[in-house]
Amino acid sequence: MAVLTGGGDCPGLNAVIRAVALTAAAGQGCRVLGIEDGFAGLVEGRCRELTRQEVSGILDRGGTVLGTTNRENPFHYPLREDGKLVYRDLSDRVARNLQQWGVEALVVIGGDGSMNIAHELSEKGVPVVGVPKTIDNDLAATDLTFGFYTAVATATEAVDKLHTTAESHHRVMVLEVMGRYTGWIALASGLAGGADLVLIPELPFTWEAVIRAIEARRRAGKKYSIVVVAEGAAARGEQPVVKRRVEGSEEPVRLGGIGELVGSQVERRTGLETRVTVLGHVQRGGIPSAFDRILATRYGVAAARLALEGRFGQMVSLQGDAVGAVPLAAAVGRLRTVPPQGELVAAARATGVSFGDEG
Ligand code: F6P
Repeated sequence: MAVLTGGGDCPGLNAVIRAVALTAAAGQGCRVLGIEDGFAGLVEGRCRELTRQEVSGILDRGGTVLGTTNRENPFHYPLREDGKLVYRDLSDRVARNLQQWGVEALVVIGGDGSMNIAHELSEKGVPVVGVPKTIDNDLAATDLTFGFYTAVATATEAVDKLHTTAESHHRVMVLEVMGRYTGWIALASGLAGGADLVLIPELPFTWEAVIRAIEARRRAGKKYSIVVVAEGAAARGEQPVVKRRVEGSEEPVRLGGIGELVGSQVERRTGLETRVTVLGHVQRGGIPSAFDRILATRYGVAAARLALEGRFGQMVSLQGDAVGAVPLAAAVGRLRTVPPQGELVAAARATGVSFGDEG
C-alpha cells in the first residue's frame, strides 16, 4: 500500500498516515510506502517505507511528515523547458512507479483538487482510495473534513483576543480568515467567538448593511464591533479580492485583502477607528485537536480497510456519526457550501449576528 498527502496541509494529516500504516501492517502484514511531497513524489518516484517505527510519535504533530505540494497534478504537470513553464501529462509515470514499487493500493489524503486527481487516476485503472481533508470543510460527499475544527479553534481564539482589545479601545476589529469558496471557518469561529458581523462568500453583503449593523450597535451603546470575514467574501456585484497568483498551481489564484477593504470602508463611513488582522496560515498549522485526531484516525483506519478489501475508487466519508465510503465521483466537481437558509446561519442571525445582507 502507498499513502500520500496532497494539496495544502492541515492538522490531522499525520494521524491519518499513522492509522493507515498501523491498520495495513496489522491487517495482512502489508508493507506501506509513504510518497514524498504528494503527487510530485508519485511522478518523480520518491518514497520511503512507513514502518511502525517511522509513524511512532506523529499522532499529535501538525503538518505532514510526508511533505505536500499543491502544484503538481500528474495530468497537467508543470515543467520548465527552455526556461518556459509548460504542462505535460505524466500520469503514465504514476502507474509505472506504483507497479515498480509493487504497490497494489494507493491512499490519497487531500482536498477537492487531490480528490479530482485521485478520481482521474482511478478512471485510468490505478487502485485508489481517498481521504477528505481541508481546513475549509468544503468537500462534497462528507459531513466533515478533519482539520476544520482545529482551524476553527485557532480562529475562535483570535476572535476572543480581539474582543478584549476592541472593547478597551472602542474599535472595530476585522478578522480575515481562510475560506476560498466557503464561509465555514468564518461562520463557525464567528458563532463560537460571538462576532457581530460574519461575511461569507455564500451571502454577498452590501456595504450599506455592514455600516448599518455597526451603527446600530453604536446607537445601542456598544462602541466596538467584531467583524469576521472569509477571504472569499465579496460585496454584491463585486469580485473576491485577489492577493497573488501561484504559477504552476491548478488553481493559481490566491485570495486575500477583503479584510483591509472592509476595514477601510468601515473606518471611512463610520468614523470609528478600525484595525485589521489577517490570520493566514496560522489556521493550517499547529497540533490537531483531540476531535480531529480521532476523526483522522477513523478515516485512516477506514481507508486502509477499504484498500485491503480491494474496494477502490471510493472516498471515506462521515455521514452523521458513522464513517462510511462514497464513490470518488460523488466527491468531485462540486463543493459543500454553507446553506444560506440552514440552521447554522439561522442560529447566528437569531443571536444577533449580521451577515451584511439584511434589508
Ligand atoms: O484550501 C485550503 C486553503 O488554506 C485555503 O483556505 C486558502 O485559500 C489556500 O489553501 C491557501 O493556499 P496556499 O497555501 O497555497 O497559500
